[in-house]
Amino acid sequence: MTTVGPMTKKILRVLDGEAVWPPPVWLMRQAGRFLPEYRAVRATTTGFMDLCTNPELAAEVTLQPVRRFGMDAAILFSDILVLPWALGQDLRFAEGEGPILPPIRDAAGIDALDVTRVRGAIRPILETVRLVRAALDERQREGEGEATLIGFAGSPFTVACYMIEGGGSKEFAHVRAMAHGQPELFAVLMDKLVTSTITYLSAQILAGAEVVMLFDSWAGVLSPHLFRTHVIEATAKIVAALRSRFPRVPVIGFPRLAGMMLGEYAANTGIQGVAIDTSAEPGYAAAMIPATMAIQGNLDPLALVAGGAALTREAEAILQALKGRPHIFNLGHGILPQTNPEHVAALIAQIRAA
Ligand code: CP3
Repeated sequence: MTTVGPMTKKILRVLDGEAVWPPPVWLMRQAGRFLPEYRAVRATTTGFMDLCTNPELAAEVTLQPVRRFGMDAAILFSDILVLPWALGQDLRFAEGEGPILPPIRDAAGIDALDVTRVRGAIRPILETVRLVRAALDERQREGEGEATLIGFAGSPFTVACYMIEGGGSKEFAHVRAMAHGQPELFAVLMDKLVTSTITYLSAQILAGAEVVMLFDSWAGVLSPHLFRTHVIEATAKIVAALRSRFPRVPVIGFPRLAGMMLGEYAANTGIQGVAIDTSAEPGYAAAMIPATMAIQGNLDPLALVAGGAALTREAEAILQALKGRPHIFNLGHGILPQTNPEHVAALIAQIRAA
């Protein structure tokens, strides 16, 4: 029988600085529309938020990729936009269009966000975390594997992007204009997001999350000066608060498209693992990051769509580039809905046999 101790799980060993070979693997957005069993559950709900706030169903879809592929992690099924929703901003997901929120562009809109609402609003999400953790502990007792439960939130800057823009955008021009032109106002929003993200992630950890990840998908749209303030400093505040309270729970940061700022991000945020995006050359990224810090990534989701020799070649290059240092194999961005699940199975088999 295996010991149910935190240090037995591969992902926790890697985040503790150990070069585990072959590396553990999970995939960003691994629970989603590319899986027929996800689409079947999703079809029973009226909207995406109904799925996120139904603990039994959300726990079920969280576990689906663990059961099908034997992933080394289960990532909580939820969304980064649950936090603005918990702060009182309306949110809906239009079919095939992505998230839609009433844009916040002034002081009144920022003042209306209610930090005291968060604790109550996130209750169903925390119940999902408890259900998934219980199911994973049960799987481990039964000898069915040792998946690590990853909780998450959006990073304040990326969440602010959607809140101010009112949804997705190519450029996030309103956000960047506010950050440059009305820095005091933007700082008020960022402070509220830092505070409520600490509340949200602390609650996920208390409910059973063993690792937490911060998704900063739009970090790369900022100039270096603003990147330091709104990506590095904001992340550092969250990590410091979490680590003082939960010193054994590692934090993974994903500063997508950070480019030349990656080294500063790794050195100055206090994180234990850094997720690198598809554009990062793994060898160069590794040189910018302390040798004991875990790197997560960074297969192109389109290589996974293509499958075959292209997929094998891309995955092998990443495995070899990061061999000998702490690495968690993952994608460089979320899995795409058109991905063939057989390609995912082939990738996992390739990594296990490395
Ligand atoms: O990784 C997982 O399996 C856990 C769940 C998860 C979702 N979103 C579920 C989801 C996670 C970790 C996220 C993070 C997220 N959400 C990010 C950061 C990562 C990234 O991709 O950059 C961002 C920017 C969002 C915001 C968001 N949510 C967008 C832009 C969209 C629409 C685009 C799309 O892919 O559909 C969503 C919806 C969403 N979040 C879906 C899922 C499974 C699809 C909705 C559906 O099934 O109807």
